[in-house]
Amino acid sequence: MADMIQFTIDGQSLEAQPGQTILQAALDAGIYIPYLCYFPNMKPYGSCRTCVVDTESNGRRMTVASCTANPMPDMVVETQNESVSQLRRGIIELLMTEHPHGCLTCHRIELCGPQDMCQRHVDVTDRCTICPKNERCELKDTVRSVELDLRTPLNYYRRDLPIHVDDPLYDRDYNLCIVCARCVRVCDEIRGDAAICLTSRSGVSLVGTSHGTSLMESGCEFCGACIDVCPTGALVEREYKWEKAKRQVNTTCTNCAVGCQMVAEINSFDKVIRFRGDVNGVPNKGQACFKGKFGYEYPNHKSRLKHPYVRRDGILSNVSWDDAFKIAAEKLSEYEPDEVAVIASARGSNEDNFVAQQFARIALNTNQVDSAHNFTPEISQRINERWDSNHTTHSIWELEDARSILVISGNPTEEQNVLSVPVKMAVRNGAHLVVVDQRETELTRYADIWLRPKMGTDHILLMGMVRATADCSLEEGSFIRERTKNGEEFRNSLWEYDLKRVSEACEISMDEIIAAATILAKEPQMAVLLGAQTVFPENRSDVVDAVMNMRLINGSIDGHGSGLYPLHAGANTRGSELVGCAPLALDSDLFQRLDEACDSGIATNTPMGVCEMFEAMRKGKIKAALLMADGFDFSANELGDVRQALGSLETLVVSSLFDNEVTAYADLVLPAAAYTEQTSTVTNLESRVQLVRKAWEPKHGEKTGWEIFKGIGQAMGVDGFEYDSASDVFDTIASLVPAYGELSHASLDNGSAMVSLGVSDDEMPYSFEIMHPDFEDVTHSSNGMLFAPGRVLHQSDREVPLIQRNYLNVVNRVEDIVMHPDDAKNISAIEGDSIIVRDLSGHVIASGRAVLSSSHPGIINTTTLFAELATYLEECEYPDPAPTVPKLSFKHITVERASADAEAHQKAAATV
Ligand code: FES
Repeated sequence: MADMIQFTIDGQSLEAQPGQTILQAALDAGIYIPYLCYFPNMKPYGSCRTCVVDTESNGRRMTVASCTANPMPDMVVETQNESVSQLRRGIIELLMTEHPHGCLTCHRIELCGPQDMCQRHVDVTDRCTICPKNERCELKDTVRSVELDLRTPLNYYRRDLPIHVDDPLYDRDYNLCIVCARCVRVCDEIRGDAAICLTSRSGVSLVGTSHGTSLMESGCEFCGACIDVCPTGALVEREYKWEKAKRQVNTTCTNCAVGCQMVAEINSFDKVIRFRGDVNGVPNKGQACFKGKFGYEYPNHKSRLKHPYVRRDGILSNVSWDDAFKIAAEKLSEYEPDEVAVIASARGSNEDNFVAQQFARIALNTNQVDSAHNFTPEISQRINERWDSNHTTHSIWELEDARSILVISGNPTEEQNVLSVPVKMAVRNGAHLVVVDQRETELTRYADIWLRPKMGTDHILLMGMVRATADCSLEEGSFIRERTKNGEEFRNSLWEYDLKRVSEACEISMDEIIAAATILAKEPQMAVLLGAQTVFPENRSDVVDAVMNMRLINGSIDGHGSGLYPLHAGANTRGSELVGCAPLALDSDLFQRLDEACDSGIATNTPMGVCEMFEAMRKGKIKAALLMADGFDFSANELGDVRQALGSLETLVVSSLFDNEVTAYADLVLPAAAYTEQTSTVTNLESRVQLVRKAWEPKHGEKTGWEIFKGIGQAMGVDGFEYDSASDVFDTIASLVPAYGELSHASLDNGSAMVSLGVSDDEMPYSFEIMHPDFEDVTHSSNGMLFAPGRVLHQSDREVPLIQRNYLNVVNRVEDIVMHPDDAKNISAIEGDSIIVRDLSGHVIASGRAVLSSSHPGIINTTTLFAELATYLEECEYPDPAPTVPKLSFKHITVERASADAEAHQKAAATV
């Protein structure tokens, strides 16, 4: 470790780490120096000069911006002397020549309360009390700290700019902007988006959108990072805009598998009114996404379910919790183990989902239990079979240090958003990116090479890349010799992957395969983001094997920046796998330990994953289900026709926060507690266990998942559910699942912890999987047409026509429906014709004009704009819209030329 630098600030001796600025060292030591353009985790900018200090080093005296200057050994820093204070006051006065500040410099400042309405001194438009950030404004704090002369009025130039309130989710009032450029820098430097920028207006710098005048045109991802760093009221969330927080609670977002650490602001009515990324949050470093930042407030909603309801003669009526538990116990006990299913919540905590599988296996004697969004269990299972589960020991932010990154069939910018932030940063810093996906996603815009293999051939393409690596002598020879046991045999087996045949099977040129293999193999720090959204279930194990082979041949297994990141759907799918709430336990001995821990023994029937369970419901094999619907996406493509499945059940017990499409089929509805009403744990995709912290007690007796399973289990007379608290449940988990063995709620309160089952010694050295290609078995795409929709933030070559709906900008354009000329010929369409795409139920899922540029017959692509998701979030009437945000679901479809009427309608839309 490099030497620390000793220096003094205001007579106090300090140590700074090499590279730290004076300001950072001071803040770490609890010494306040005013600052405005500096923000943690961003590069020093040095524009506002609020942080000026005097320094003396080697006899040289200087006045410097402490946010850009590094301390020197034995440097003496003064932050409070008269000349610095005077200079700082002058700087702040200059800054305020364009900011309404009547209240900041009024001589009555000590007499006024924070919410008082001024009767005499300050013009209405100058008052802090009309600012949405009143009392949470950094400028105000800074002004107070420098003790300006209290003179009223201190004139300022009123910009008279229009306030932008016509984009979704947040407002922009550049009259309050101090041009510190924090928002511009976080958008560019941290998020890699550059949707907002510094603009010039009559020679004066201001902030504006990079393209057009609306955020909808500019490539904004509505992550809210700009709002969270804004020191004034210039950028604010529209919802609860003027609400004041009474207190704050640090918690974990449960809208996706990243588990962002957030600060929830709570008002005096126990409502969560704002969600901010926690700059100290380990998995997110202060970042969030559109779902986390704006999809947090459903616990407040007035339509929350308050009492259990039972359906009698088609009518739902109130029952007590005790009666509800008895009814559920009686109904569910009527079924054989193969006829009943338990589906845990997609947001369910480790505690909820552990007790869920305990309830299923012990009380219902069935292994038909899974978490609701465990859509691709084959991925974890295959990794586990080959790697003993040690596949997520690399942290999210190590991705920044990867030298090459392979993304397979995933859309992390939308579904695990913050995971994509270090990917974009790595690419900016020179890492190479290869994306394998039929769909155009945001990361394809960053990719060096974007490969769109024929459907069903991803594993063949990946093995073709492995073969190309060997052909080009790019394999990591010493790693293969020292760390693998069948390298020679594997190398010989690669001759089966003749590149010409691979190229023909995948419909990817040999040159592209070789180029992708070359850039991935150049350096051993190769990270892989592994999704499977466009991979057929029967090919997923093969894709895992091919990825593992590629990691081994490149020697990219356990080095820094060489992580493998399965792209789980659902907030706690990883945790559910670890606590046994999945078709197969990742810890091979877990079920045996569970069996030993209960007197009656656990279920022995065949385990079933959630997708299979919905199929079994539709076929009438599963007749009863207990479904925890918090965060459930009833439009999830992976689950098939959810309505038909639920409609086929004889008995459905649902725990939910709201009445919705699931409760419409329920015989018994149990009101669920939200994330703000429980202290529990979730495990994110990097296997980090984090606390969700309670913000208030449930107001109407709503219950968490584990309490509901406990209640029904005890009503069935089954032992083993004697838990007093979530912490108690967690202790049981820790006693049965070694990965959690060292942890407790108390230890997690002091900081999150990454867990791993680890690689057993027997697994070393690693084995390549010898795979034999079946070039004939890649016929899926000829079994009808497939739709592979894409979505990006911005397309520089296309206009973004906007219209206003309910006073808000919405995108209104005719999309390109990209198809192969042969497919167009089959429906007698030519370039530019209007095309309609329907799913197999006949619903229109896309429409637009034909663009005949696809090289894959049988696949239809279209690329829409991300801005439409912001509109969805804003307009959705369901109180909890985040889980139902439309995904880029890959679907079987029919395609047709539009009728003359439909064509005229499309043209009219295009000319609005
Ligand atoms: Fe140092 Fe702005 S905080 S110049």
